Amino acid sequence: MIRTVATKPYDDQKPGTSGLRKKVPVFQQQNYVENFIQSVFDSLEGFEGKSLVIGGDGRYFNREVIQIALRMAAANGFGKVMVGQGGILSTPAASNIIRKYQAFGGLVLSASHNPGGPHEDFGIKYNAGNGGPAPEKLTDRIYARTKVIDSYRIADFADVDLDTVGTFSAGGMTVEVIDPVADYAELMESLFDFAAIRAMFADGFTMAFDAMHAVTGPYAVEILEKRLGAPMGTVRNFVPLPDFGGHHPDPNLVHAKELYDLMMSPEAPDFGAASDGDGDRNLIIGRGIFVTPSDSLAMLAANAKLAPGYAGGLKGIARSMPTSGAADRVAAKLGIGMYETPTGWKFFGNLLDAGMATICGEESAGTGSDHVREKDGLWAVLLWLNILAARKEPVKAIVEKHWAEYGRNYYSRHDYEGVETEAANRLISGLRAKLSSLPGKRVRGLTVETADDFSYLDPVDQSVSSSQGIRVLFEGGSRVVFRLSGTGTSGATLRVYIERYESDPARHGIETQEALADLIAAAEEIAGIRGATGMAAPTVIT
Ligand code: G1P
Ligand code: ZN
Repeated sequence: MIRTVATKPYDDQKPGTSGLRKKVPVFQQQNYVENFIQSVFDSLEGFEGKSLVIGGDGRYFNREVIQIALRMAAANGFGKVMVGQGGILSTPAASNIIRKYQAFGGLVLSASHNPGGPHEDFGIKYNAGNGGPAPEKLTDRIYARTKVIDSYRIADFADVDLDTVGTFSAGGMTVEVIDPVADYAELMESLFDFAAIRAMFADGFTMAFDAMHAVTGPYAVEILEKRLGAPMGTVRNFVPLPDFGGHHPDPNLVHAKELYDLMMSPEAPDFGAASDGDGDRNLIIGRGIFVTPSDSLAMLAANAKLAPGYAGGLKGIARSMPTSGAADRVAAKLGIGMYETPTGWKFFGNLLDAGMATICGEESAGTGSDHVREKDGLWAVLLWLNILAARKEPVKAIVEKHWAEYGRNYYSRHDYEGVETEAANRLISGLRAKLSSLPGKRVRGLTVETADDFSYLDPVDQSVSSSQGIRVLFEGGSRVVFRLSGTGTSGATLRVYIERYESDPARHGIETQEALADLIAAAEEIAGIRGATGMAAPTVIT
């Protein structure tokens, strides 16, 4: 039976760059989930009888929301839902399923790298038929709908058994519970030289992969240990838990500190890697050397040809504006296009769909390619493994040779979390107001060349996205970028991105914060961060 249920709108259901993210208790309010899902469906056209993909990162509330989504998909006229077994689908795997089976779209349930649990974060994101996050005009439509919604449609049927692979009928709709890993593993096998990587492991190559009790556990065990023959125990924390074991499933140097410490110790394996809650981010650490995501993007692009899936070369590279310019130098050398987009993976979708870029990346540990329309943590790990197997050199040697050839972009991001929203907005508007007075000014011995608020003209659909971050460029290619996070769930987070280019190999061994000290001081002088935030130091430095 299908029911139409009366409801009242909530005023806080604006999907951000990564869908709707809120604390679990917010999602647990009456009709909150239903309102949002109905608003998504009401904003789509022509899905009658078509397929919808549903899956999530396994965090707290995942299963409950999946049951609701199944009932609503049936009531709204979808013909079929493909759902990952156990409610599990990593974000890149969901993107792959949508594309491979030509689904109409998908609901990806995740709050990415944010903690999970009854009082932590949850999220719902709609991905379109190309497998990528909904474009802004769609999320705008969804938001507008949430503000006026007065009813939703839901079918009455018992909970679907999510734990058994198979095809059922429910509410007049087909429900197919699929193996969440198989299609993804097959895709990876089509892109990378599994035989070479297998031979490298057989030769004694060692690795530690930290799945952080999040979604990549089952994927990494299947691919690294079963298909590539890495010894059992290579994948750590591989059981996805609703609260990620009480940790932040964020693969950075703070939350993956154990892995980092191991990689810097005498017992370090050859290669260390981690992924986040929903499997789209990556952390890459060689024995004794952390590879920044910006550098990793450049190095993956420079060496991509060594992997069968990219042997024909790259069409172009895209990076988000705050990501370092290291990849630009690779693109220049390869003679291919380089695109600088606003923060957020969705801006890469058009470039990938149009065949203008093959590899994309963000400083926030997201790297990926045109194989799906999301960033992809394990993909980055496997491309690194493929490169290591082909070059037969340690990570450190590859990194140092890359710097020697292209120069080094020293890079760091300073986050100020939990800033009062008003204060954060004032800081940014204050910067905006003084942009025109900055060029030519000397700050801490550095001369400002240009200063602007980044605006992006999409070369594919000509749409403009403005106010995407304050950029202050100094002579010599150094720069500082200021922007507010768009993914937080409480208060504001100020992100300050600091970059300095160094061509001289004799100066490539400086500690990063030391190499950037002048710029860090200049950023403080320009923006008055301490005064505005009341914080003496960043909460997280990456
Ligand atoms: C952050 C990252 C950004 C990434 C997004 C989603 O967004 O900075 O690169 O695309 O998470 O994973 P922010 O919180 O900075 O808006
Ligand atoms: Zn993520």
